[in-house]
Amino acid sequence: MNIAFFDTKPYDYIWFEPLSKEYGYEIRYCDYRLGADTAVLAKGYDVACAFVNDNICAETVGVLKKCGVRMLAMRCAGYNNVDVAAAAKAQLPVVRVPSYSPSAVAEHTAALLLSVNRKTHRAYYRIRDNNFSINGLMGFDLAGKTAGIIGTGQIGSIFADIALGFGMRVLAYDPFPKEDQLEYVPLDRLFTASDVISLHCPLTPDTYHMINKRRVKEMKKGVVILNTSRGALIDTEALLEGLIDGQIGGAGLDVYEEESDYFFEDRSGEIIRDEELSRLLTLPNVLVTSHQAFFTREAMQAIAMVTLENICALEQGRPLENTILPRS
Ligand code: NAI
Repeated sequence: MNIAFFDTKPYDYIWFEPLSKEYGYEIRYCDYRLGADTAVLAKGYDVACAFVNDNICAETVGVLKKCGVRMLAMRCAGYNNVDVAAAAKAQLPVVRVPSYSPSAVAEHTAALLLSVNRKTHRAYYRIRDNNFSINGLMGFDLAGKTAGIIGTGQIGSIFADIALGFGMRVLAYDPFPKEDQLEYVPLDRLFTASDVISLHCPLTPDTYHMINKRRVKEMKKGVVILNTSRGALIDTEALLEGLIDGQIGGAGLDVYEEESDYFFEDRSGEIIRDEELSRLLTLPNVLVTSHQAFFTREAMQAIAMVTLENICALEQGRPLENTILPRS
């Protein structure tokens, strides 16, 4: 099998190259993101391999099919950037890595919470500047506070355990609750009762902008918002308004609605033209990381292993276990 690998970063090569040799697969590593204009690079390859900010719209699917690509292998869990219906119509199987390290993402969420609350990101810079003042760095005890967790799948349920470990009360919302394990409440109640709200649901038409102006007004004053899921779960304008008027006490964001132009890239020599991102980055109570919640050794190894195993299933004509199917 030969694989056209889009949006390659140095760490992808480190994990995929040795393993692909064991499978006897040839990988062409492209820096370009996969989209309608770059899909032609997959001509002559069996598989196109893509990541979270590639754009696999209907047009991209059409070009991949014309190029003879037999499968799209997403090397990630989320697939909101794939037109799954178009792929199904074109009979292009799409596979993903449904689980690589849910702990990695849940632990990063906890890191964001601890940092935003106790302001360690600001303390770090102060101390480096010989400024040992602690004025303005006061946080609050997590113990005894309420964490509202939206989406209690693999990642959300681990984050719930972490929050319980901090001595927090956990309220959860999920259309498919794990009945016996957590205290599930309606979404309205979760928004009004939580001191910390953490998003762990997929991005779908139902969850798009689930945090919006109305929701922000309903939240407890000083609430901390955490999003390690997908940027478009939050209406950034509503978040900014809430942060600026003090309704929201802080935000830890590993994802951002318009992240695709910036995240994963070194733009240190350039001017950020995205005004909402620029404004977010000026706020002391906001910590943004660049979609790195998944980024542990264990997760990278699992991503490479499962992606290549997905491709091997195609090669050997076995059932594709990790196929993404259109929503019915
Ligand atoms: P999962 O599929 O195990 O869990 C998602 C949960 O969300 C399910 O229990 C589902 O029932 C629930 N859900 C569906 N619709 C919902 C709604 N309208 N409201 C509330 N809950 C809803 O997925 P997993 O592995 O826990 O991942 C969660 C999200 O984390 C993914 O969708 C992905 O976007 C994101 N992610 C982010 C990473 C990062 O590096 N920042 C890495 C991996 C995943």
